Amino acid sequence: MKALVTGGAGFIGSHLVDQLVKQGVDVVVVDDLSMGNVDNIKNQDAVTIYIEDVRNEMFMQALLQKEKFDYIYFLAAVASVADSIERPSETHEINHNAVLKTLEYIRTAKLPLKQFLFTSSAAVYGNLPELPKKEDSRVSPLSPYAIDKYATERYVLAYGELYDLPTVCVRFFNVYGPGQNPSSPYSGVLSILTDCLENNKPFTLFGDGSQTRDFIYIEDVIQALWLITIKAAHHQVFNIANGRELALNDIIKTYEMVAGHELSINRTEGRLGEVKRSVADISKLVKLGYVADWSLESGLTRYWEGAEYAASRS
Ligand code: NAD
Ligand code: UD1
Repeated sequence: MKALVTGGAGFIGSHLVDQLVKQGVDVVVVDDLSMGNVDNIKNQDAVTIYIEDVRNEMFMQALLQKEKFDYIYFLAAVASVADSIERPSETHEINHNAVLKTLEYIRTAKLPLKQFLFTSSAAVYGNLPELPKKEDSRVSPLSPYAIDKYATERYVLAYGELYDLPTVCVRFFNVYGPGQNPSSPYSGVLSILTDCLENNKPFTLFGDGSQTRDFIYIEDVIQALWLITIKAAHHQVFNIANGRELALNDIIKTYEMVAGHELSINRTEGRLGEVKRSVADISKLVKLGYVADWSLESGLTRYWEGAEYAASRS
């Protein structure tokens, strides 16, 4: 079995690559390292890594034709809502067009395929009042990022139906854990919080902290992705989340407890285009056999211990 993981040097992608290698799959990674790092991948010798841009059509087509992948996991993206608001047109080329062009090449070149998995986002649900969010809840994408994710989902599913391709979409809620790059102001909040707690830096809180998120630890995400693959659960959308709604203020308190000290917090205005409340109904994933192994407390504890260990060795 051969798999392509675009964005495979990134946070979620690198953990997925580790899992695929563990399962005996031959893995090829395409990542431009704009946010990723090759060192995120544990067993680099077992993986072919191309430092390339998924917008490079010639490169992508030659690779797809040469390798004839069984599984494609499309994770490469600009993962930040706020970043997509700063550069909507450029992020559209990556978050939408690159995926569509890949699918179109698979269709026209009639490439054999066992699965094309696209990683969408809880951001598609926006601020509509219905909670928790089910896969068939109404959507209301508020940012270029969310619009691109939703439009791409529709294409991915339509290609599946119209051209008989085994496609599936997942909507990640907020994922955290080791390997998430904290270095950009657009990085995931828990990677920034870890960096601030670790290095006694002040944390900037956008808004009053009452915004809620459904945080899922990376190992549970990988469990869900693998389950979808082995069950060949295609032609549908899955929420991937923990199913617990927590306010950012409470998440910060829990992390301060885990770390054993307080954070210095600067407060500023809320971000534009933000989702105010987010929590998933995960019953569809549970029906597939998913059991969450990690609570926020246990996930943060593991994350923090890893960060402390890494700091003690550097
Ligand atoms: P990440 O930034 O760590 O990973 C994305 C990877 O894609 C990075 O390694 C980056 O270098 C690479 N990349 C970006 N543009 C590229 C390009 N043009 N060509 C090739 N590679 C490129 O982010 P992540 O958290 O691992 O997110 C992975 C996927 O999951 C993304 O599609 C993201 O939108 C989606 N997602 C993430 C979350 C989350 O909470 N982390 C939630 C919902 C959806
Ligand atoms: C995150 C993911 C996005 C995913 C979405 C699904 C990242 C970078 N973003 O977006 O890919 O599609 O979940 O739900 O992984 N905040 C601060 N201070 C900071 C940074 C953030 O207060 O320094 C706040 C934000 O304003 C927001 C919350 O923390 O209210 C979470 O922010 P962020 O981690 O960027 O995630 P989302 O925008 O939810």
